[in-house]
Amino acid sequence: MNSLRSSAASLSLDDQDDVESLKRENQKLKEKIAQLESTAPPVSLEGGRETLEIPFEDIELDKQIGGGGFSLVYRALYKGTPVAVKRWFNPDLTDAVLQEFREEVLTLKDMRHPNVVQMIGACMRPPNLCIILEHLPYSLFYVLHESQIEVDRQRAINLSLDICRSFQYLHSRSPPVVHRDIKPANFLVDRAWKVKLCDFGLASNSHRQKGAGTPAYMAPELHAGKAYNEKVDVYAFGIMLNEFISRIVPWNYTPIADIKEGVMAGERPDIPLSCPRAMKNLIQDCWHQESSRRPSFAEIQDRLKQM
Ligand SMILES: Nc1ncnc2c1ncn2[C@@H]1O[C@H](COP(=O)(O)OP(=O)(O)O)[C@@H](O)[C@H]1O
Ligand SMILES: [Mg+2]
Repeated sequence: MNSLRSSAASLSLDDQDDVESLKRENQKLKEKIAQLESTAPPVSLEGGRETLEIPFEDIELDKQIGGGGFSLVYRALYKGTPVAVKRWFNPDLTDAVLQEFREEVLTLKDMRHPNVVQMIGACMRPPNLCIILEHLPYSLFYVLHESQIEVDRQRAINLSLDICRSFQYLHSRSPPVVHRDIKPANFLVDRAWKVKLCDFGLASNSHRQKGAGTPAYMAPELHAGKAYNEKVDVYAFGIMLNEFISRIVPWNYTPIADIKEGVMAGERPDIPLSCPRAMKNLIQDCWHQESSRRPSFAEIQDRLKQM
């Protein structure tokens, strides 16, 4: 009993010593960190640029899964791992085509977010221009319009919340990155229903008018060729939110000129009668004619969370 008591007493004494020595150690480390912070240069990542480049020979293209205008998207293997490869196929690589490729690579290079598709690397030696991306099994277009998968109200809200997260990230960059081509085909979905934004072909932080978007998702100021800002993404999101509920491709067979004229005059796709009031209000605020009246993605996220 006695020996137990004395060992307990010596234990607490040792503890006391340990605490004191840890405190001293901690203080020393803090001083060292402060010194490093004031004098040490940032860790250099020279050579980081080359790590982006992947030799075309390291890729095994499999079947085509998408694409159109300037590029085709393939399923592929990169060192045995399934990936997606977006390959530019235009045989005359004009400066304009090269510039588009370069801009998409440069935009994607800086994107790091759980709801934005991750670029793994790029083949940058013409004529083999490819962007290698993580592969996701579905596009949101497939889920909404080509499958029988049920998208109930809660599912639609959860998808929308993921999309809000990707745009809070894009729009909070300095300067904000405007995606300019929001539509279901440009979102990918994984087996756990996580959504990731893809296709940075029109994205830009320079507010330069380039290329066309997809008419049904284009805000009036884009149709009018006027100045625009990140609120064009909020407009397109409003169109897509309605599409989640209606599961109808907006103005699918309407001629482009009619869409343009209608949108500039304030016309919008029909909102289903069954749409709850809070959701209807949100959709209408997002696709408001005046860009300054459209909410930010932070506000949209708050409103969706309350539904
Ligand atoms: N990382 C990916 N994983 C799976 N499918 C993809 C991926 N990237 C693109 N796709 C598919 O290819 C289609 C076209 O890709 P996208 O980058 O949008 O090219 P485009 O500029 O031709 O629209 C997408 O709608 C999607 O169906
Ligand atoms: Mg696309």
